[in-house]
Amino acid sequence: MSAVKQLGYLVFEVSDLAAWENFGTKILGLELVDARGDDGFSLRMDQYQQRFFIERGPADDLAAIGWEVEGPAELDAFARRLRDAGHEVIQGTLDAAARRNVQALIRVNDPAGNPNEIFYGPKRYSEPFVSPVVRSGFVADEQGFGHVVVASRNDEEHQAFYANLFGLRLSDYIRCEYFGHKIAVTFMHANARHHSLAFGGGQLKRIHHFMVQTKSIDEVGLCYDRFLFSGGMVHQTLGRHPNDKMFSFYGYTPSGFHFEFGSGAIEISEGWEPVTYGKVSEWGHHPPQLLTKAYRRAKEASATKA
Ligand SMILES: [Fe+2]
Repeated sequence: MSAVKQLGYLVFEVSDLAAWENFGTKILGLELVDARGDDGFSLRMDQYQQRFFIERGPADDLAAIGWEVEGPAELDAFARRLRDAGHEVIQGTLDAAARRNVQALIRVNDPAGNPNEIFYGPKRYSEPFVSPVVRSGFVADEQGFGHVVVASRNDEEHQAFYANLFGLRLSDYIRCEYFGHKIAVTFMHANARHHSLAFGGGQLKRIHHFMVQTKSIDEVGLCYDRFLFSGGMVHQTLGRHPNDKMFSFYGYTPSGFHFEFGSGAIEISEGWEPVTYGKVSEWGHHPPQLLTKAYRRAKEASATKA
């Protein structure tokens, strides 16, 4: 069965284009390309023409996940397979493909209603990407731009959809308690990147976060500084995950969902065995707002006792 090669792009519908331009270029260190005036712009991070389509709209959420397949035969096979499994597949017009800078695309929703676009033939630059902000650059190209974590309704159904129809393979699970919240996340890979997609229930938006990976640990600290000094709100402090070993932090994007900025992840190798982890992080990744609340509550409780 043909499988998707990589996570090619994300499309975001955002209410504040100016804030996203500043965040994308000055904080994340991506390059603004294809400015479309009031309609939006795109962001580049490697040889691919773009990895993010930022489009104006009220949703402040994920508008589509773009997955790359090898060529026209694979795209046709995907459309047939999805239709045979009872999913509604929309053939993208030539215009729609041109807007995404790809040869052709189809659209299909996953079982939680997250919109997917499957495409082949992305446009690429011949010159390497150089960021004036993130000098060491990003781990992207054949691994795709990074990963995305989205909402699911039924985890088993969600996993079966991406395994049986997209050809994603299981990386591992995280099941634990985190500051009073039940965490159940499934991680899946398409290539050497530990996970291109993860999902779990109990989320307010379609997207929980997206992640971009730099080639140097220092870039994570530098981005943390840029973000703090820009007035950005940290969602989770610096830390390291137990499964992909990513050293990273999380912050709020201008649309209210989160981004993860990381480095140092392991890659999937031959004979990979999925396991279940009982914690979100080996250390760090603490939520400052919840810590403050927990601290205040503990102080109030001890004051009441005294
Ligand atoms: Fe992540």
